Amino acid sequence: MSEALVSAFRGCVGEFATGVTVVTADHEGLPAGMTLNSFTSVSLEPLLVLVSLGSGSRTLHATSASGRFAVSILSRGQRDVALDFSEAGAPFPAMHVARDREGFLPVSGAAAVLRCHVERIESAGDHALVIGEVVSIEHGGGEPLIFHRGRFGGIELDAVVPAGHPIAIDEGAGW
Ligand SMILES: Cc1cc2nc3c(=O)[nH]c(=O)nc-3n(C[C@H](O)[C@H](O)[C@H](O)COP(=O)(O)O)c2cc1C
Repeated sequence: MSEALVSAFRGCVGEFATGVTVVTADHEGLPAGMTLNSFTSVSLEPLLVLVSLGSGSRTLHATSASGRFAVSILSRGQRDVALDFSEAGAPFPAMHVARDREGFLPVSGAAAVLRCHVERIESAGDHALVIGEVVSIEHGGGEPLIFHRGRFGGIELDAVVPAGHPIAIDEGAGW
């Protein structure tokens, strides 16, 4: 694949603004975690989510070996958490997480946390698509951290749905 094409592809998909998550897993006391924006909800019955983890990543190894993982959806003030979890080869930034009673490693102060058991892993190019069944959720709320064109930010007020014009995702086809 030419470098120019990869660069054009990156620029193109970078137009898709996303939230930012941290996926953590723990195999035999060895924690791993990564900043990840390839998160999506997949199914309501059962509750399924999907994350795409790089093939050589420590987080994929810990996730597949332990059979479970946590997804923490970061809030606006957690840009430094996102940076700490995206440094290749860096030690696990343990100060950002608090191990819970079940042994998951959610990020403290996250807007929301989904604890998952691995349902299926499909190889896809240089990544693995991990589908997880959600076993518990926590919803702190607050403003989300946004990622767009390689930069972190927040939602501008004019992007918020105006009062009186609610958009309910449970009204759309399939929801
Ligand atoms: C905003 C952002 C989003 C990212 N999304 C992903 C992703 O969806 N999948 C992925 O494999 N890596 C993603 N990364 C890169 C990983 O965070 C990075 O490679 C990390 O060092 C992998 O850690 P590990 O090898 O310890 O598991 C993202 C990085 C940033 C900054």
